[in-house]
Amino acid sequence: MTRNKKSASILLCCALMSSIATTALGQSSSLGFHNTVTGEPLDFNEALPEGRDTPGVKKFLETGVDPYIEDKSCLKQGEQIFLSACSGCHGHLGEGKIGPGLNDSYWTYPDNATDVGLFSTIFGGAQASMGPQYGNLTLDEMLKVMAWVRHLYKDGVADAPWFTEAQKKAYKPYQQGETFPDDAPGLCAPAKGK
Ligand code: HEC
Repeated sequence: MTRNKKSASILLCCALMSSIATTALGQSSSLGFHNTVTGEPLDFNEALPEGRDTPGVKKFLETGVDPYIEDKSCLKQGEQIFLSACSGCHGHLGEGKIGPGLNDSYWTYPDNATDVGLFSTIFGGAQASMGPQYGNLTLDEMLKVMAWVRHLYKDGVADAPWFTEAQKKAYKPYQQGETFPDDAPGLCAPAKGK
């Protein structure tokens, strides 16, 4: 009797804990994060422990919109991540190499034209050498590299649903050699006083 009671309360406790863990890491089901190829739901428990609860990640998991896109404080970091983790296969400008071009309006997987879709491909991978990046990049780094991929875009804004109306108006195709100041204000600027 006591034993049963105890195991029931252990069960309840674990059920509660796992529901808290899912909420803290975002409503993966309500935003429909799923593997680009298999359609399996993504498991955010596989994410690296760092960079899970930055303001940018929280916002993205709530809204499905990458808040780092066109934020000048994030673009330089995004470029660095892209050059170390992606350009070897996708080209320095995302023009395509052994992996497909990422800077044009054609997507093998049309969902990659949305932030949720692009994030899901980076997190969970696709086919061939496009392996999952969850063991390689933090969730926050994935959002930064996505901002850079979007910044490299060179085709028309009509085919770029990830841009807001204001971003569409300000859009210019990527210029090679562009630089960003280290102290640009924005979501990725180092916290003041640190
Ligand atoms: C080892 C090589 C390799 C690396 C590193 C790599 N990719 Fe890929 N990537 C590929 C290949 C090959 C494909 C095609 C897979 C497919 O069609 O299923 C691909 C496909 C993609 C797609 C789907 C494109 C479409 O047209 O729908 C995206 C998005 C993508 N990669 C982003 C990235 C990002 C961002 C990074 C860096 C974090 C990265 N990849 C790192 C090889 C790589």
